[in-house]
Amino acid sequence: MTASWPVGLAGIGYGADYYPEQWSPAVRTEDLALMREAGVSIVSLAVFGWASIEPREDEFEWEWLDRTMDALHDAGIRVALGTATASPPPWLTRRHPEILPVDREGRTLWPGGRQAYAVSHPLWREYALRMAGRMATRYGRHPALALWHVDNELAAHVPRDYSDAAAAAFREWLRRRYGTIERLNEAWLTAFWSQRYAEFAEVLPPRLAPTDANPGAELDFRRFSSDTWRDWLVALGDAVRPHSPGVPVTTNVITMTGSDAVDLFRWRDAVDVVAADHYTHGADPERHIELALAADLARGLARGGPWLLAEHAASAVNWQPVNLAKGPGEMFRNSLAHVARGADAIMFFQWRQSVAGAERFHSAMLPHAGTDSRGWRRSVALGRALGRLAEVRGSRVRAQATILVDYEAWWAAELPSGPSASVRYAEQLRRWHAALWRQGITADIRHPADDLGAHPLVVVPTLTLADPGLAGRLETAAAGGAQVVVAFFSGILDPRGHVVTGGYPGLFRGLLGVRSDEFAPLPPGRRVGLDNGMRAALWTEHATPVDAETVSRFADGPAAGAAAITRRPIGAGAAWYVATALDGSDLDAFCAELLRAAGVRPPVAAPQGVETVVRCGAEHDYLFVINHNSTDAALDVRGTELLSGRESPDGLTVGAGRVAVLRLPRRESVERRTTHARNA
Ligand code: GAL
Repeated sequence: MTASWPVGLAGIGYGADYYPEQWSPAVRTEDLALMREAGVSIVSLAVFGWASIEPREDEFEWEWLDRTMDALHDAGIRVALGTATASPPPWLTRRHPEILPVDREGRTLWPGGRQAYAVSHPLWREYALRMAGRMATRYGRHPALALWHVDNELAAHVPRDYSDAAAAAFREWLRRRYGTIERLNEAWLTAFWSQRYAEFAEVLPPRLAPTDANPGAELDFRRFSSDTWRDWLVALGDAVRPHSPGVPVTTNVITMTGSDAVDLFRWRDAVDVVAADHYTHGADPERHIELALAADLARGLARGGPWLLAEHAASAVNWQPVNLAKGPGEMFRNSLAHVARGADAIMFFQWRQSVAGAERFHSAMLPHAGTDSRGWRRSVALGRALGRLAEVRGSRVRAQATILVDYEAWWAAELPSGPSASVRYAEQLRRWHAALWRQGITADIRHPADDLGAHPLVVVPTLTLADPGLAGRLETAAAGGAQVVVAFFSGILDPRGHVVTGGYPGLFRGLLGVRSDEFAPLPPGRRVGLDNGMRAALWTEHATPVDAETVSRFADGPAAGAAAITRRPIGAGAAWYVATALDGSDLDAFCAELLRAAGVRPPVAAPQGVETVVRCGAEHDYLFVINHNSTDAALDVRGTELLSGRESPDGLTVGAGRVAVLRLPRRESVERRTTHARNA
């Protein structure tokens, strides 16, 4: 049976992307000694290795990789082995320039960077699958092999390819989806603007056009592109699996909330282990909260099980306008926050900082300065700390709320020619998640098609496109006691992207007991007041409660007098509608009200800015306390602090910027401390 975790990886895994091909044999020898010193237990290898392995067609230089695999094995370090296909070698694109991808404006994306291939091109696939097969034949039974790391951040640089190869594949995808051209014409409503197609051969990707393309075509092209990359992930996995029975396959996906390239919920079953990459934006004051969201998303992809942080940065990255170094303790807090939220392995890009190449100024576990550096000391300290958390491995995060996330809804919310280009899905998602975070509440991220779970609070941020069956399932959750809250511009489109008529919010009208006859989005910078004193921006609408209580109305603005917040009691719970984007502190206050209604409390009372998350193991609960403040935090909780090994009989003090992990005796278990509406 295929393992669901890297084979032979014990405790909380620790490591990095390792590129021995950049270094001399002497440096590689030193690398191994230093990896041992830092407590590294797993490295990703040969992810971009193709040109170093096959510098000319059919001429192979395996020796460096053979030696590295053997040496890592001797050092007891496990390997997440790349398929070496993340970038084609120069000889391939020179010989076959037709495999290069093309952007929306028709420009070829040339080699010289990375990922310069058209994922749909049959010739690319043939060459790359052969390469993956070679890797698997050579190393599939190597004792160091723990995990296959397929390609790298698939779709990161070329989320959508508009080449002729992509056009042909898009037509095939459409043919499979619609069967007949008539059904495509209906789905896209091509009667509008003289777009009616007589046959699939006439359909093109939505390339640069005189004006906005058909939104149905845009939506389907995104679905197609995501499916195509997924299909490529599966093909590469299938190329290696037969050579390495039992060894799991993964690929590192991007969970940052800026990234909507692919539908990760459709991807999660294509891997045996969920592996996520996460980078913070140094200038974002709430980057630690965005990190929490990304980690919750990764756990959601893993359906609550363990996941692997495949990459994050030891300090600065190299791809932001100004690459801020992480502040004191920040890397440690970041890493431990990922563990708190379910990561059972923590890896970096990369092991040793490069001296040349595009990422020479990107931080690494071992910086340019060498071992006499703060960076190195931080890497060693983190390795020690993770070593002390071995028993946490396999425990599951306990959340108190559910947030529904859907990439299709994300795409639909931001299609061109919508009501407001200022409505950004990720921003709205982040605002709701952050409001819960500030209340000390951990949220599980689920897809709307998932089991909605048993949490007493379900948050539905701007879900513009939805399946018609969702409203009934949310109604059932509310009837069972949940507080369900739906934000503006939700339930507007059906899965084809057609507007649901009869009044907004279309699909959720019955659930929420509200009907709007017109949107009234606000221009940038404009704010409105509510009659309860709250302030809001971005969106208003002419909403009337039909079967709901009005909690609050717009006091001014274009929809003055209309309902801004409504509540429809349903059975033991309720469905709330928020027809605007409340100001941050007002959203916090509103979430506090929802949590009271849901009977949800944080695991332990903690000052604002102190993150608390619980992981539940078979024997113990583990309380992670991450102090993001510049002052010490005192918590009324007792147990064994695992990082220091000390007991905390009189309560726990967590220093400014520091982290504590408390093993709670069972009787103190958070299960008892967290009040659930339904047990109350
Ligand atoms: C990731 C990528 C790595 C490295 C890193 C730098 O997106 O997978 O190879 O480039 O970014 O932050």
